[in-house]
Amino acid sequence: MDRVEKILLILMLGMSTSSFADVNLVKDKQCMQCHDVTAERIGPSFQRIAKRWKGNPVAEQLLMSTIQQGTQDGGGQHWSSKANMPNSQERPLVSNDEAKKIVKWIMGLSV
Ligand code: HEC
Repeated sequence: MDRVEKILLILMLGMSTSSFADVNLVKDKQCMQCHDVTAERIGPSFQRIAKRWKGNPVAEQLLMSTIQQGTQDGGGQHWSSKANMPNSQERPLVSNDEAKKIVKWIMGLSV
């Protein structure tokens, strides 16, 4: 393998393992009970969320807060008046680091 090939391989491995890890994180935290990447379920699809908040400077802070604390205690209602994202007592806890990773992953889904 020459140097360029090695660099490419390292880049590819890095990218695929990190986005796999983030999907697994979202699954572990039971987000997929209410969300899907492309389909509308109880909550909006992650792609629609990404599209809505793309380029918004407060998005990371706001989405992290909703992911950690739920709709009411976190970033507030934005999608429907019928359903809420539950707060942290009713879901697995999400740390700051994890929330940051999840927001990055969601924003990367925007098409
Ligand atoms: C019990 C169902 C449920 C679970 C579990 C759930 N969500 Fe949600 N989520 C919702 C609903 C409903 C909304 C829409 C709330 C609204 O109208 O603003 C939402 C909204 C969101 C939003 C958009 C917030 C906004 O203001 O635009 C994000 C991001 C999100 N969820 C991420 C997650 C992540 C990450 C997890 C796992 C840690 C998760 N959700 C788990 C139901 C759920």
